[in-house]
Amino acid sequence: MNNRKNTLTRRSFLESSAAMAAAVGTATKIRAAVGPSRTRLAIVGTGSRGIGMWGSPAVRDYSKQVEMVGLCDVNPKRVKVAERMIRSNMADMDGHLRTEGDGSSAAKGSEIPVFTDFDEMVNTVSPDRIIVTTMDSTHIHYVIRGMELGCDMICEKPFATDEEQSKALISACEKYDKNIAVTFNARYGTSATKIKELLNAGEIGELYSVDYAEYLDDDHGTSYFRRWHGIKENSGTLLVHKASHHFDQLNWWIGADPVEISAQGELRRYGRRGPFRHANCRLCSHKESCGHYWDITEHPHLVKLYVDCEGEDGYFRDGCVYRNAINIYDTTSVQVRYSNKVLVTYSLNAGVPLEGQTITLNGSKGRLEVRNYARQPWEAPARAEVRLMRNSESHSTLMPLARRQGSHGGSDSLIRDHVFIPDSPDPLKQRAGARAGIMSSIIGIAAYRSIEKGRPIKVAELIDVSRLRG
Ligand SMILES: NC(=O)c1ccc[n+]([C@@H]2O[C@H](COP(=O)([O-])OP(=O)(O)OC[C@H]3O[C@@H](n4cnc5c(N)ncnc54)[C@H](O)[C@@H]3O)[C@@H](O)[C@H]2O)c1
Repeated sequence: MNNRKNTLTRRSFLESSAAMAAAVGTATKIRAAVGPSRTRLAIVGTGSRGIGMWGSPAVRDYSKQVEMVGLCDVNPKRVKVAERMIRSNMADMDGHLRTEGDGSSAAKGSEIPVFTDFDEMVNTVSPDRIIVTTMDSTHIHYVIRGMELGCDMICEKPFATDEEQSKALISACEKYDKNIAVTFNARYGTSATKIKELLNAGEIGELYSVDYAEYLDDDHGTSYFRRWHGIKENSGTLLVHKASHHFDQLNWWIGADPVEISAQGELRRYGRRGPFRHANCRLCSHKESCGHYWDITEHPHLVKLYVDCEGEDGYFRDGCVYRNAINIYDTTSVQVRYSNKVLVTYSLNAGVPLEGQTITLNGSKGRLEVRNYARQPWEAPARAEVRLMRNSESHSTLMPLARRQGSHGGSDSLIRDHVFIPDSPDPLKQRAGARAGIMSSIIGIAAYRSIEKGRPIKVAELIDVSRLRG
């Protein structure tokens, strides 16, 4: 499949749909999406997501809509490397950082100004919109400061990592009338979209309950424990960092607010549970015996972006998964009660032999069963399917889901279209804003508070939902 050709065809269609909406004078106002005046775009946080998901594709694929005017990162070396990687088109068409080369090859176009100070960037290059792709716990600072300085904000999930951040964001949204997009690419997956369509069509009647099991395999699951994500104060645990995707899907499918959360969590595989430890893999004396040894030097782009920049911030991208400091959970179980009485049972397990999800939704008329396995060692190819069962019928309907090309199952390019072509059609309401950002992260926050306190937590104990618009 010619992925680039498909991407361009889809984008041309969306651009013309947006233009047509303006031409027929619909209520939807076309901003600078199509036409000569481009949105001035900046990025804060120029790690792999900032470059691969946003920076490189924005410059390569959306030059009609956006102009990249500035890049900012606390690491002065990394932001310079990122600038070259973005202009060298280091993200492949799937949105992953290319693994060959290190970005020092021919960079195209004019240099993008780089900064280590956010205010200086905003005051110097006057962006209209800023993408926040820093470490999770630091999103809030830039979202609020960016709005204060007059910018619209695009924030990677999670929107907040604790209840104090959530409250501060609610207050800031009341104070500043700026546009906020929270980038929940998981709403764009084939199974997530199919579930939404089937629920909207009333195929299983009124929804009563959902069982959602998330599995992170040894490769993917372990990667969180190597990096800053392993520290609760940075990521809010995987229940916020990772599961906020799934809690957002649930909120979107269920169409109601979470009310009460109870959870259990354990650290069984990593951190202090390990047999030995070191600061990072490269210098470790247990390389031969460690099942999680990972050689970052086999990845030239990661060496350039992280190893060569270690001197500036001391951050090891190949950190030891058995570090004593790791204080998040690899094994979790969560229960959520919603305002419309829907009951959810959710679990997340990291370091298991398959990658993907099983999701079942039970309603008044029937049931949906979803298997979405990206990688599984015993069965090929990977499978993604939805089975619809009705109480009144003796047969079920199996709907295989096509596997799409691209990062996160093709979801990343779809959400970029929605973010960069603002008035393109959105029939399933996949675009998400501050309310969705808060309501997804608050489930994860309530879950880890429940684990800490050993009791159920009401959302109302943490935030005042009535203050959230939308
Ligand atoms: N939606 C998705 O599927 C998805 C996938 C990956 C990452 N993400 C999100 O993207 C964000 C970045 O992830 P990543 O994998 O690129 O991480 P990363 O560690 O590779 O990059 C983060 C960058 O932010 C910089 N940074 C950290 N604190 C900062 C601060 N206070 N001010 C300015 N810069 C700061 C770091 O120096 C680094 O360059 C995270 O919030 C993560 O949750 C989302």
